[in-house]
Amino acid sequence: MFNKEKPVEAIVDRDKCIKCQQCVEICPADYLEFVDDRIKAVDNSYFGCLQCGHCMIKCPEECIEIKGEAISGEDLIVITDSLPGFDPVNTLFHKRRSIRKFKTREVSDEVMEKILTAASTAPMGVPPSEVKVLVINGAEKVQEFAEELVDMYDKTIKAMNPLVLNIAKPFIGLNSHKMFSEFVIPLGKLTVEARKQGRDVLFYNAPAVIIFYGTEITDKEDPVIASTYAQIAAETLGLGTCIIGSVAPLLTQNRALRDKYGILKGEKPATAFVLGYPEISFNKGIKRRFKAVNYR
Ligand SMILES: Cc1cc2nc3c(=O)[nH]c(=O)nc-3n(C[C@H](O)[C@H](O)[C@H](O)COP(=O)(O)O)c2cc1C
Repeated sequence: MFNKEKPVEAIVDRDKCIKCQQCVEICPADYLEFVDDRIKAVDNSYFGCLQCGHCMIKCPEECIEIKGEAISGEDLIVITDSLPGFDPVNTLFHKRRSIRKFKTREVSDEVMEKILTAASTAPMGVPPSEVKVLVINGAEKVQEFAEELVDMYDKTIKAMNPLVLNIAKPFIGLNSHKMFSEFVIPLGKLTVEARKQGRDVLFYNAPAVIIFYGTEITDKEDPVIASTYAQIAAETLGLGTCIIGSVAPLLTQNRALRDKYGILKGEKPATAFVLGYPEISFNKGIKRRFKAVNYR
């Protein structure tokens, strides 16, 4: 049984069950079966219950409860609103732009909570979620964090001088070498120099930064997907965001900084974005295309 921490129980109210077996059909893990005229958990299932909750959602009588590490009957919610439809969502996607100029207005705890509640609905490799979120909210705290990261950036680029990079070339490969020497290091230098001049080109003076990271056993995609959901949710609340690619690698390198911000040993910083009310707005978009879409 692949139960991460706490064993999962499937509780069926047999008095209410109408034996429609929709729970069995919907279960992606083959964890439920209908035998001896009743629904029950498979004794030796492949990997136990995934805790996705699909059976609870699907049951017309609400008579099945999955009680697990982070799920119970109380988590079932009734959704009555209709979906927004393709066009408004497509417009949102086309209007979203990375924002690098923010008003000084802070992001309230209520708004932050809304964003994170929405983002927590993101799919995950194996429920329950292994995603953790670090919220740095308030201009002063963001600037303290920026100072710490830029200091780290400075040390990193000094350590990666051209000689070291050339020695590392056979080990890191040509592409990584090019990426470091032509992008990461120049960007680091720009960031450090700008900070000395009082310009924040790391966080763009945003009032908040959100970092998504995962526990030791997280799927590496999970925090990234959750972060994308959060960015979209933020957008619908009139906020702007910009992913900051250097945060996760810099945090990963620095044990002291991870300790300071409560990121435990073995946990993996994955992605981060800045967040705030945009100083600018766009009413045009840019047509984009994937590098390739292959149909077979
Ligand atoms: C993995 C990743 C890392 C990024 N890191 C940064 C960053 O450090 N600083 C920044 O200003 N923008 C960063 N961005 C934002 C991109 O520059 C931006 O998405 C791209 O220019 C396209 O613009 P758009 O988001 O407005 O469509 C990052 C985006 C991604 C996906």
